[in-house]
Amino acid sequence: MLPEATPEDDGTTAPPPARDKRPPDRVVLRADLRAALPDAGAAVLVTAAVFAFLYARMESGDSATVAVMPFMDDAGTYWMYLFSQAFGWSGLLWAWGTVMLGLLLSGPRPARLPVSRHTLERWHRTTSLTTMALMSAHALMFAAELVRHEAQLAWADRLWAGFADTFVPGWYDSGTGRIAIPLGQGALYLAIPLGLLFYARHRMGANTWRRLHRFVIVVYVLSVWHTLLYGTNVWYGEWPRTVLWLLQLPVALLLLLRLLRPARRAERLHMPTRRGGASLPGWVVRSTGRVVAAAVVVGVVIVVVSGHDGGRERPAEQPATSPHEHEPE
Ligand code: HEM
Repeated sequence: MLPEATPEDDGTTAPPPARDKRPPDRVVLRADLRAALPDAGAAVLVTAAVFAFLYARMESGDSATVAVMPFMDDAGTYWMYLFSQAFGWSGLLWAWGTVMLGLLLSGPRPARLPVSRHTLERWHRTTSLTTMALMSAHALMFAAELVRHEAQLAWADRLWAGFADTFVPGWYDSGTGRIAIPLGQGALYLAIPLGLLFYARHRMGANTWRRLHRFVIVVYVLSVWHTLLYGTNVWYGEWPRTVLWLLQLPVALLLLLRLLRPARRAERLHMPTRRGGASLPGWVVRSTGRVVAAAVVVGVVIVVVSGHDGGRERPAEQPATSPHEHEPE
C-alpha cells in the first residue's frame, strides 16, 4: 500500500544532514503518522456515518445482518458488532483508495495530474497507515463483541475465546467463517508488515523492498474475498453486493495498465533473448500476470453485467444462529 518509487529511492532528494544522527526510517514513520492524522480523522467520520446507517437499518427492520441472524435484531445490544462492520467498510474503502493511488504511481504516468506526484505519494503512505488502523479496529471490535457475548464464561475464558476466535488462524470453527476468518486474518497479518517495511527500506535495499511490496495486492484481494464471502450486508444479491463488485473494476483495470505499461523500465515485458535479455522463467511469470489481470477485468465485467455475483436469495424467514455462525443456506 505504499509507493513503488519515492524521491529518496530515485536519489532526487538531498540526503539528511550529516550531523543528524537520528535513524532516517524512524523520522519518516513519525512524520507520516503525523501527516496521517487528517486522513485518519476523515476515516473516523466515515466509520461513524456507516455505523449510523447500519444502526438505522437495524432499527427499521431492513438490516441484511438481521435477516441472516434474526437474534441480532437489537442494535443497542449489538452496537460493537455494528462498529466492527463499520470499521470493516471504512477499512475496505481506504484499502481501495490506497491501492488505486499505488497503481497510479507505479503504472503509466498520466499526462496531467490534479496534484503533484510528491503529494500523491504522501497520500498513498498516509492512507496506507490509516488502512492498517481501520483493519485492526474492525478485528478488535469483533473480538470485543465475542467477549461481551460469552457472558456465561469466567473472565479469563471470555477474553481467551474472543482473542482466539478473532486472531488465531484455524481456531474459529463454525460455518463459512472457517474459510472467511482466515482470509481476513491473512489480509491483516500481511498488511501490517508489508506496509511498515517501507520505513525499513533503507536497511533492506529499495529493490528487495519493492519486490516484497508487490504482494500488497494479495492483501487487497484477500480483503475483498473475505468481505464477499462473509459480510452479511453483502450476503444477498442486492445493490450493496453489486456496488462492491463494481468498485473492483477500476482496480482491475489500473492493475492491468500498470502491468502492461509499468513506470519502471526494468519491469517492461521484453522477449527473452540469448544475449542478456529477459530470462524465460521471468518472462513467463510476467506474461502470466498480465493474462491473469486481463482475465480479472473480463470476469468482473461478466459478474456485474450478468448479475451472477454469488449473492444469495433473501429468504422470507431465517432460523436463528449464534452471532458468529454465518451458515450459508
Ligand atoms: C483478524 C482479521 C479479521 C476478522 C476476525 C474479521 C471478522 C469479520 C466478521 C466476523 C465479519 C462478518 C460481519 C458481518 O456480519 O457482516 C466480517 C465482515 C467484514 N470484514 Fe472482516 N475480519 C477480519 C479482517 C478483515 C480485513 C483485513 C478487512 C479489510 C478491510 C475486513 C473487512 C470486512 C468487511 C468490509 C466486512 C463486511 C461487513 C458487513 O457486511 O457489514 N475484514 N469480518
